[in-house]
Amino acid sequence: MSQDAALIINNIFGGYFVKYNGSKYVDAVNDVSLLIRRNEIFGIAGESGCGKSTLLKIIYGYLRPPLIVKQGSVILPLKDEKVSILSLSEEERRRKVWWKVISWIPQNSMNVLNPTMRIKDNFVEIMRAHMNIAKKEAMEMAIDYLHKTGLPKDVINAFPHQLSGGMRQRLVIALALITKPQIILADEPSTALDVVMQRGVLQLLANSQRTLRNTIVMVTHDLAIHAMLCDRVAIMYAGKIVEIATSKELFEDPLHPYTQMLLASLPRLGDKELRQGIRGSPPDLSAPPKGCRFHPRCTYMKEICKSEPPLLVEADKEHFVSCYLYSGV
Ligand SMILES: Nc1ncnc2c1ncn2[C@@H]1O[C@H](COP(=O)(O)OP(=O)(O)OP(=O)(O)O)[C@@H](O)[C@H]1O
Ligand SMILES: [Mg+2]
Repeated sequence: MSQDAALIINNIFGGYFVKYNGSKYVDAVNDVSLLIRRNEIFGIAGESGCGKSTLLKIIYGYLRPPLIVKQGSVILPLKDEKVSILSLSEEERRRKVWWKVISWIPQNSMNVLNPTMRIKDNFVEIMRAHMNIAKKEAMEMAIDYLHKTGLPKDVINAFPHQLSGGMRQRLVIALALITKPQIILADEPSTALDVVMQRGVLQLLANSQRTLRNTIVMVTHDLAIHAMLCDRVAIMYAGKIVEIATSKELFEDPLHPYTQMLLASLPRLGDKELRQGIRGSPPDLSAPPKGCRFHPRCTYMKEICKSEPPLLVEADKEHFVSCYLYSGV
């Protein structure tokens, strides 16, 4: 096992059992393995609905119905033990892992805020549970962190529902940083914000990573953010990781046909017309295509792509891709 691993994610299969017009399983995360390193910003990108948020929830161990994990493990190596996050009870995760070691900035901030408590009580409760700190000191620190994310002081007295989505998102970012965790799982941390605010909070996250030398897993569909902030990036398509590389390599030399199309569809300065999007649409994950899940949209499709899912192989140093164009079949 690598010494510098922050999180080891092994062969995760997870999704949603939904009961609506009969029952079906939404296969949102299929055989995902990742090694996230200490002191890196690791990005996860991909179209809407490809499973990014589901993967992050599973890594955090936020397993609320209808989400289930069928198989796999998430290992958190600590100084004197290796914690298997999915083997813990929720109470143990709350006590040993959440906030203290890993904090989560969910796409929906209400997942971590208690709606019946004022913001100050939300902060103080979490801070006092995980930091050795007096109530008054916790309040002062909370106000300071809220200020850092551009929020006014009096937000501290509000209830979560009284704030806008953007304000709530900023305060969850403040909350995620305040306990100085080793790992931050950030799910679209800046999407509800205007461009100026977006810059501010991303800068705050990046600065905290530099100061604390911790790990950030950054989920966003915005590739510009990945290019700007991330050390390495994984591209997800229909529940599977199809490519992983350093962000420099990924943007300069994308290997997977899906990544190539994703990058080609980005607008460039000087464009007179809209660029062509990716043809077709992502599959319904309750009935994903057999073989390579991208094959129905791929211009390089071969016979084997329809029946056998390709493995993720190291095509170049530190550059992994799951496509038969590179695995020699
Ligand atoms: N609570 C749920 N019940 C049933 N299906 C769900 C639920 N949440 C997500 N899904 C389905 O799981 C799949 C993956 O969703 P997920 O939210 O992880 O995607 P995402 O990549 O985060 O998308 P986005 O970019 O829109 O946030 C989708 O098909 C989605 O419809
Ligand atoms: Mg999402």
